[in-house]
Amino acid sequence: MAIERTFSIIKPDATKRNLTGKIIAKFEDAGLRIVASKRIHMSKEQAEAFYGVHKDRPFFGELVDFMISEPVVVQVLEGEDAIAKNREVMGATNPAEAAEGTVRKDFALSIGENSVHGSDAPETAAEEIKFFFSDAELVG
Ligand code: TYD
Repeated sequence: MAIERTFSIIKPDATKRNLTGKIIAKFEDAGLRIVASKRIHMSKEQAEAFYGVHKDRPFFGELVDFMISEPVVVQVLEGEDAIAKNREVMGATNPAEAAEGTVRKDFALSIGENSVHGSDAPETAAEEIKFFFSDAELVG
């Protein structure tokens, strides 16, 4: 297993309900280290570009509106097998299908308002980190 970096977003439904710390605790308890973190209010242009891969899906408009509805916390997580490990900590996209103890099982409200984003592969992790952070902001 290699040390990897992955990109995470604590989404508006979670920041709004003051769950940022509880979610970060789950990352850290799983052995993921926060090497970059900032709270931002995404612009519509940023949200549309970030989720560009979903632009033809029926939920795209709702997803963009949700992501710009409240601030988010964007982060870079580092650790062994960080991409898969973070996906495990997050749980399934739909909270009804998420495993016990995962972020989405414990906190998500619905398939749309599902508390966290996490990169799904090394290529997307690299792209997503670059989308929000400069190299100088990554402090390992
Ligand atoms: P996806 O990449 O499939 O899931 P994940 O976030 O687990 O990688 O979808 C991206 C986001 O799009 C998802 O977190 C919430 C939203 N979404 C919906 O609102 N409705 C849907 O039916 C799906 C599949 C996703």
